[in-house]
Amino acid sequence: MLLEVQNVSKKYSHGSNAFHAVNNVSLSVKAGEFAAISGYSGSGKSTLLNMISGLLKSDSGRILFEGRCISDNNFKLSDYRNNQIGYIIQGQSVLNSFTVLENVCLPYYISGGKENKKEEAMTLLKAVGLEEYAEVYPNHLSGGEMRRAAVARALINRPKLVIADEPTSNLDKENAVIVLELFKKITQSGVGVLISTHDSLYRDYADRCYTMEKGVLQEISKL
Ligand SMILES: Nc1ncnc2c1ncn2[C@@H]1O[C@H](COP(=O)(O)OP(=O)(O)OP(=O)(O)O)[C@@H](O)[C@H]1O
Ligand SMILES: [Mg+2]
Repeated sequence: MLLEVQNVSKKYSHGSNAFHAVNNVSLSVKAGEFAAISGYSGSGKSTLLNMISGLLKSDSGRILFEGRCISDNNFKLSDYRNNQIGYIIQGQSVLNSFTVLENVCLPYYISGGKENKKEEAMTLLKAVGLEEYAEVYPNHLSGGEMRRAAVARALINRPKLVIADEPTSNLDKENAVIVLELFKKITQSGVGVLISTHDSLYRDYADRCYTMEKGVLQEISKL
């Protein structure tokens, strides 16, 4: 199994009120599978995805990537984050001091790559409909264009698992479909995809659907 989340919980407090943002959640994503989590604002989606991507520690439970627990001492967390997964965090995450093309290449150079990645980055920009924006700085882009640039950037290191927190927010239907179809396409080469979304479009693309409510995750039937 590519990703296994086993009984993971995270507690937060608002003032004196402690609550489970994520409550005993289990899920799995196989290689080549497209999984989607939908849920209202505040239901715990980003907290869960931040734990899966190793940005946030869980209080309990285990997260296994290819059978190895990501919180084990001998697990190479930086390699996991840089090379094994591509994480598109919620909101704007492209860097304004680099062009769109440089943003897309950045994860490759950060993980020590020495080759010229321009051509591959251009192919990814083409796939998200941004090839004409390669030399543009992100502060000259719309919110939706920035999100598509972030999607291209998450794919440059050819991750085995792509995690995307609301990748289609800010996108009109046409562009949301471009992103969802791109995710679907990469699953065909064995990549696992896990997204959170408010968008009901995902149901046409996801192989496995979950809903999250007050920290509790439930699988829902596709039918
Ligand atoms: N660092 C924090 N400290 C305390 N509470 C937090 C913290 N981060 C998130 N929360 C709370 O945890 C709950 C889950 O938040 P989370 O961001 O995971 O929700 P979400 O499902 O991603 O929402 P949205 O759809 O709005 O992005 C919310 O009630 C939020 O206020
Ligand atoms: Mg969120």
